[in-house]
Amino acid sequence: MKKDKKKVSREIGLEIGSICGKYFLKLDHLHYGYWTDGLEVDITNVHIAQENYANFLISHIPESAKKILDVGCGTGQIAKKLIVMGYKVDCVSPSHFLAGQARELLGNSSQIFECSYEQLQTENRYDVILFSESFQYINLKKGFEKTISLLNPDGYMLICDFFRKRTSGKSNMSGGHLLEIFHNIVSEYPLRLIKDMDITEETSPSIDVLNDTFKKAVHPTVILTQQLLENRYPFVSKIIKWAYRKKIRKINKKYFNGEKTGENFKKFKSYRLLLYKKKSD
Ligand SMILES: C[S@@+](CC[C@H](N)C(=O)[O-])C[C@H]1O[C@@H](n2cnc3c(N)ncnc32)[C@H](O)[C@@H]1O
Repeated sequence: MKKDKKKVSREIGLEIGSICGKYFLKLDHLHYGYWTDGLEVDITNVHIAQENYANFLISHIPESAKKILDVGCGTGQIAKKLIVMGYKVDCVSPSHFLAGQARELLGNSSQIFECSYEQLQTENRYDVILFSESFQYINLKKGFEKTISLLNPDGYMLICDFFRKRTSGKSNMSGGHLLEIFHNIVSEYPLRLIKDMDITEETSPSIDVLNDTFKKAVHPTVILTQQLLENRYPFVSKIIKWAYRKKIRKINKKYFNGEKTGENFKKFKSYRLLLYKKKSD
């Protein structure tokens, strides 16, 4: 039950991210940016960094591939790019809201499975199964089993996502499988590692941009709204503050303590592009 609640909050978080990103910053994607040398780390450049990320990822799709499954397709923008390039692409999206956006963008050029990857049932088989920042949400064993069953012989699994590192200290940034456990479990499956690239340096500036936004825009807005409520409804506001004091403390610690920085991201996470080839029998 607790886990389901967590899953729902994560989905809603991604949906809000998609709405705000699109409305305020004209962002189409739902992933980190790839900050190339010379690209100023600034909120107005996030769309360029995200485009760089998509291009970087696509450049690692093996040449032989024709049919791709985009797991956790978000708004469908990467699938769209791939379809324009001539690939046949199907998508998986457990979020009704995001699946709707992807459907609007892709029309009937793609089959969109509205379910989690772990629950996907299809007779289709793929040359590449792509996880663009969606791998962290997938159950490792169930995910690998599903991947093996859905890949054509000699097919590939392409993951671009961050993992947790085993480091001393406590991180307040959640998310990501423990890299060590990922390596242990993946070694139990017929998958051969072809590429392993560390792109933590290039992706971590996205966290600095987010931190800056929270510090300079979200936090002051929250404080001012709080002051407005205290002024208008002093009694109700006192009750709310007292009743939700633990939650408020938790939210302040999680979002507004200024520790979600690129430096801390590099300390606790490792963002990797991993390409595996299915071993033939
Ligand atoms: C950070 S977004 C990335 C979206 C997109 N791939 C991109 O690169 O912009 C994570 C995506 O994973 C999806 N997701 C979460 N849990 C999933 C699961 N169990 N199976 C498939 N997709 C999942 C979310 O709905 C969301 O679309």
